[in-house]
Amino acid sequence: MFKSVNPKDISVLEVQKLLLGGVSPRPIALVSTISENGEPNLSPFSFFNAFGANPPVVAFSASRRIRDASLKDTYNNIVRTKECVIQAVTYDMVEQVSLSSTEYETGINEFVKSGLTPIKSLVVTPPRVKESPFQMECKLLQMINIGNDKGSANIAICEVLYFHYSEDIFKDGIIYPDYIDLVARNSGDFYTRASGNSIFKVEKPIGKKCIGYDNLPEFIKNSNVYTANNLAKLANVEKIPNKDEVNNFIKNFETNNQYDESNFYRFLKRKEHKKMLEVCLCLKNSNKYKYFLELTSKIALENDDIDFAWKVAIFSK
Ligand SMILES: Cc1cc2nc3c(=O)[nH]c(=O)nc-3n(C[C@H](O)[C@H](O)[C@H](O)COP(=O)(O)O)c2cc1C
Repeated sequence: MFKSVNPKDISVLEVQKLLLGGVSPRPIALVSTISENGEPNLSPFSFFNAFGANPPVVAFSASRRIRDASLKDTYNNIVRTKECVIQAVTYDMVEQVSLSSTEYETGINEFVKSGLTPIKSLVVTPPRVKESPFQMECKLLQMINIGNDKGSANIAICEVLYFHYSEDIFKDGIIYPDYIDLVARNSGDFYTRASGNSIFKVEKPIGKKCIGYDNLPEFIKNSNVYTANNLAKLANVEKIPNKDEVNNFIKNFETNNQYDESNFYRFLKRKEHKKMLEVCLCLKNSNKYKYFLELTSKIALENDDIDFAWKVAIFSK
């Protein structure tokens, strides 16, 4: 069953739960601020993102408490001082970051409570967090208050004045997910570790005019083998190979081997699409021939061998 809900008809807590689960996983800003009396404050905020590069702009929301609509120390501090430091949260520090979110009384130093290490900033007064490999010194550009009730947003739009980062998190000119090992917030107590098996690539269609989903041949769109992701990968090419290209390509995989179906399943398990095609070409008389070819094309797509996948897909017709 699918439900449709007007947020005005449910409690703020239920709305919050929907947002936390459905707008998820969210990056986490670990925000340090300084009170008027010079006391440091540190808290995490996952209503957070980046919005532009020139000037560099990030924003987070220290919302009013759902319990009693009271304002958080981070909000009060940033409104008064117009400064903060925002740091990325990595797997190695996530438990300490969670500790820093404890609702201590105003004036309690969450650096001390969490055991995270304050270090001097370059151009703003709040300290940076040494343990984070990515830190941004910020000034408040604009505070947008949306409502003044329980759970209302206070969006702090900040300009980044200084970036500080460890060079160890870079590979091939980008911040490499496995090296920075960020965490993000989901619903309830759940977090996402954004590295390892959670990371995958999707080739950007930028810079080329891809044929698009609508130009996929019907026999490919109607296949039971390809998933929606498989079809979108096929649609991300500029041209479909012609029959001659396909036939010349297929010839390279003809062998004198006496493969049978068991060989096909063995190579399927190992996701070796080239060997799968060699086997297919020995199974021309099988009633599963077309299915095997489509499966070979699908595995090629999953191995990012798109040209191979297209040629086998056309050949399977
Ligand atoms: C990972 C994480 C993300 C959080 N995200 C938010 C958020 O986006 N907005 C918010 O108001 N509170 C958020 N909180 C709760 C605040 O961190 C918490 O209310 C904190 O005590 C506020 O501290 P302060 O009063 O010192 O500013 C989050 C807590 C955790 C652990």
